Amino acid sequence: MAKRILLIITGGIAAYKGLALIRLLKKEGHNVNVVLTEGALKFVTPLSVQALAGTEPHTALFSPTEESRIGHIALSRDADMIVVYPATANILAKMHHGFADDLASTILLATDKPILVAPAMNHRMWNHPATQQNVDALTARGVRFVGPEEGDMACGEYGPGRAVEPEELVQTIRETRADKISDIASGLRVLVTAGPTHEAIDPVRYIANRSSGKQGYAIAAAFAQCGAHVTLVSGPTSLPAPEDVARIHVTTAEEMFYACQHVGPVEIAVCVAAVADWRLETPSAHKLKKGEEERLQLALVRNPDILASISQPGPTRPPLVIGFAAETDDVQENAAQKRTRKNCDWIVANGVDAQNAPFGQDDNTVMIIDETSTETWPHLPKEEVAARLVQRAVQAVRARTSHSV
Ligand code: CTP
Repeated sequence: MAKRILLIITGGIAAYKGLALIRLLKKEGHNVNVVLTEGALKFVTPLSVQALAGTEPHTALFSPTEESRIGHIALSRDADMIVVYPATANILAKMHHGFADDLASTILLATDKPILVAPAMNHRMWNHPATQQNVDALTARGVRFVGPEEGDMACGEYGPGRAVEPEELVQTIRETRADKISDIASGLRVLVTAGPTHEAIDPVRYIANRSSGKQGYAIAAAFAQCGAHVTLVSGPTSLPAPEDVARIHVTTAEEMFYACQHVGPVEIAVCVAAVADWRLETPSAHKLKKGEEERLQLALVRNPDILASISQPGPTRPPLVIGFAAETDDVQENAAQKRTRKNCDWIVANGVDAQNAPFGQDDNTVMIIDETSTETWPHLPKEEVAARLVQRAVQAVRARTSHSV
């Protein structure tokens, strides 16, 4: 699938490989926009870039003509991904520390798009603790590295530091999803429960609720689009499985409970499902027939609480557990109590009333309640609620665990 790629070429002898990459990407039908750093201009000319890419490269941060034509924010916004090839030790240091003193570093600081970096430098520079710390920190933030390779270097030495060949980078770009929002959640494992549960009364009837599963599915999709490994345990819904999400179908609360227990360790669990609190003690094996009676009593027993069980303290407890609460009265107070009672870290609360009846709808008004604060978000599409929640959750879990996969 054709992608819009913003290629940043930085200054090094391997900059010529950037030109070869442009040619290969264009051959595959991608749209390539190029930024040259001051260093890169010493190795490749804007004219050769223009001839290959079909558009003029961008070079200056404070250029009145360029900023009015296309600003640094727009350059990132209009791209599906950013590729830095070759990447010098200098640009890695700038990226790690958030420098924004030229067009390339400013774009890299301002972007929320996936970033692919292919470093090229002398092996001593690559192995230096400063560079290695930069690489570790950037990897933890979701920046993806390709290479460097080991081999003969332009300086006559041998070791790791050679930029990968452009063909290898093209392959990686091909494998990166075009709708991928970022890599911020890469390396994180996430469990999401969604949808209603159905508790059988007899072979044709069941107890259910109004949950459509839309919010849970949007959250699972948003985590996957940010690079997480997502398992979605879903009650009955008609929604298609989001791309790159492992979906496990269940019907009852008990099935959902056991499915969640078997998912294995995760860093984040988000229980969005509207789980039936009760099930029939003994569902009838045959369809219940009406007699003369005016009243029918069904004996119900409690279902296991999935959220409370995931939140139990212990070595397998995920570092971040998020529950949901749909309340009709005293939303904030009831939801806050639910958070404490179920021992989860955050509760996403929504009021169910005439103004906000989220069931089956495409948007939602929610409050995020954690140990110390309550945040009220505006009325938003469920996808936007999901995207914001993912950002907040990933930040929190990385801070809690210094997780750097
Ligand atoms: N939940 C769960 N397992 C259950 C019941 C609820 O995992 N058996 C989770 C839901 O997925 C949600 C949170 O608990 O994240 C709150 O669900 P809710 O139905 O509002 O909570 P209840 O405990 O059922 O409280 P209430 O008394 O309001 O029904």
